[in-house]
Amino acid sequence: MRIFALGGYGKVGLPASRLLAQSDMVTEIAIAGRSLDRAERAAKGIGEKAIAVQADAADERKLTALMSGYDIIMNAAYDNLVLPSIRAAISNKAHYCDANVVVEEASQLSADAASAGISSIVATGVSPNISNLMGVYVARQLEEVEQLQLGRADIYNFQNGDELTPLQWLEEPQQSLAALRGFRQFIIWVLGVIQKNGLRTVRSFNDGRWVEADAFGTGMDVPLTDGSTMTLYPYSVGDPLFPSIPSDLSIASPVEIMFSPFPHQLNDLLREYSLRVAEGNMDPEKATNSFFDTVESDPPRWLAFTDDFPPIPKMWLRAVGRTKGRPARCSCWLTAHMWNVGGYFLTSVALAAAVSIILRGEIRERGVIAAETAFEPLPFFDEVVSLIPDPPPEGKLIDKSFEWLE
Ligand SMILES: NC(=O)c1ccc[n+]([C@@H]2O[C@H](COP(=O)([O-])OP(=O)(O)OC[C@H]3O[C@@H](n4cnc5c(N)ncnc54)[C@H](OP(=O)(O)O)[C@@H]3O)[C@@H](O)[C@H]2O)c1
Repeated sequence: MRIFALGGYGKVGLPASRLLAQSDMVTEIAIAGRSLDRAERAAKGIGEKAIAVQADAADERKLTALMSGYDIIMNAAYDNLVLPSIRAAISNKAHYCDANVVVEEASQLSADAASAGISSIVATGVSPNISNLMGVYVARQLEEVEQLQLGRADIYNFQNGDELTPLQWLEEPQQSLAALRGFRQFIIWVLGVIQKNGLRTVRSFNDGRWVEADAFGTGMDVPLTDGSTMTLYPYSVGDPLFPSIPSDLSIASPVEIMFSPFPHQLNDLLREYSLRVAEGNMDPEKATNSFFDTVESDPPRWLAFTDDFPPIPKMWLRAVGRTKGRPARCSCWLTAHMWNVGGYFLTSVALAAAVSIILRGEIRERGVIAAETAFEPLPFFDEVVSLIPDPPPEGKLIDKSFEWLE
């Protein structure tokens, strides 16, 4: 089978291409992007199945010609290239898969994709896709779902794809400070979302009824990776940043709750600035500058860890609702091991898993399909685990708990 990897030397594309090249099913993988030099270096690193192709997806006619003869187009480039790439895939009757967040517009090409006999699966990756499938999984454990809640503690350096994990990075204050600076854009971005959308409440069952709880102010009882729970304090509670929680599976719209992987005192400082932004008293850039100024004034104080730092999951999903007439909640979370598997890499793995499943002919549906509809949660998680070079113990991507609320 032949794969055309658009953006195949990017942060998401290169690891995905490497994983796919290891599969016996794959005979050729074209590493494509605007830079022939980068494509050639990447192809050389991958090995003999890889070839370098210079391609600018903005030129749809040329792109369509270049993709001729491939079995699947894996698009690891940007959102603006989704529609031209799907159209090129349709013209070539090649399947298609991406990790972007262009679902609605892409769906308008569904009838054409179905007529061409192709499966075009959009929005794979960690979030959306793995987060969505975790949402589908917990929602299915209850008969009626009041709300789906996504909690996350990951934080990214957009430039290099690094992720700040709770314990790996923040060990020595000066080193920690240098690491922290790489996450500035992420913090500005989340504070910008708070400025735009404000903070939201979450649905909770208290004193025999469903209420709207202020998780930002009072904290939230969240699952830890060891299966226990603990009250943690988010620095944002809002609408999902990406379409990363299925919106159609619960009565109340889904909510995304951001926790930080920071030591307690640093998390509290971030929350303080986050609140000022939410109240309209500071803009995101100024709040982020002040946050960093404060940390830089006394790194040992702000960056030191205490021994009781909890094993928080980087991502968890919870459905709250009712089953057998009783209020209940079901939570699932990425296992502790998944902190060792960076989020960007996990996106590459999820993309490669999706391509593998399509190439094996296991997706019968034709048209443009969102990943959460195309895949079954647990088999998809197994596929992901099978591709992780250092797989989690017991082969589990997620753990779960079910609790009655009264
Ligand atoms: N679903 C998830 O969980 C998730 C997580 C992370 C990222 N993502 C998404 O994944 C996508 C890739 O992110 P990334 O961080 O890997 O970006 P990146 O490192 O910048 O890689 C993008 C790749 O696309 C290529 N590209 C860009 N414009 C192109 C064009 N006009 N024609 C051909 N190739 C082009 C780039 O090469 P040239 O610029 O040299 O052409 C590069 O190889 C983004 O849309 C991002 O939002 C999704």
